[in-house]
Amino acid sequence: MEPEVGAGPVTEGGSPAVEGGRPPVEEGDPPAATEDRQTTRRSFLRWLGGLTIVTTAAMVLTPVVGFLIPSKNGASAGGGKVLVGTTADIPAGSGKVVAMGSKPAIVVNTEQGVKAFSAICTHLGCVVAFNDMVGAIQCPCHDGRFNPATGVVVSGPPPAPLPPITVSVEGDQIYLTEA
Ligand code: FES
Repeated sequence: MEPEVGAGPVTEGGSPAVEGGRPPVEEGDPPAATEDRQTTRRSFLRWLGGLTIVTTAAMVLTPVVGFLIPSKNGASAGGGKVLVGTTADIPAGSGKVVAMGSKPAIVVNTEQGVKAFSAICTHLGCVVAFNDMVGAIQCPCHDGRFNPATGVVVSGPPPAPLPPITVSVEGDQIYLTEA
């Protein structure tokens, strides 16, 4: 039997083989420039998706890693006082998650002075961090936000404020007092 004229190679599934990895051009296909633009848009969206994943991972992991790596200043000064850093470590307008015993605490240097709270979110227990871009203590899990001077919930799902921790600044040294 004679092969059919014009028939190209056929794959196992019976569909026409694709040469060079591209589908055959058919009538009504978009021009090449449109295809290139779609490829560029697809690449950009893929890059944006990757950036979002990396940013989210950094937001979640930064406070956790900060808590897990022991502070060189995290020595107990007796009487339940724990040295957690200096004012140079936490300059005005910034905050830091520190270890207080086995629990994370967040120390924030605000206009109202140095404040500290439990760093465990009152919603579902994620470790919060200070976000200097929004000027709030922020939970990376569901975007709960707390006032850095009072620990009160500003927005999001947390049902209660962050429990405060007693802070004392002696010279340039910041101490937290264990309850
Ligand atoms: S765990 Fe913090 S907002 Fe949900």
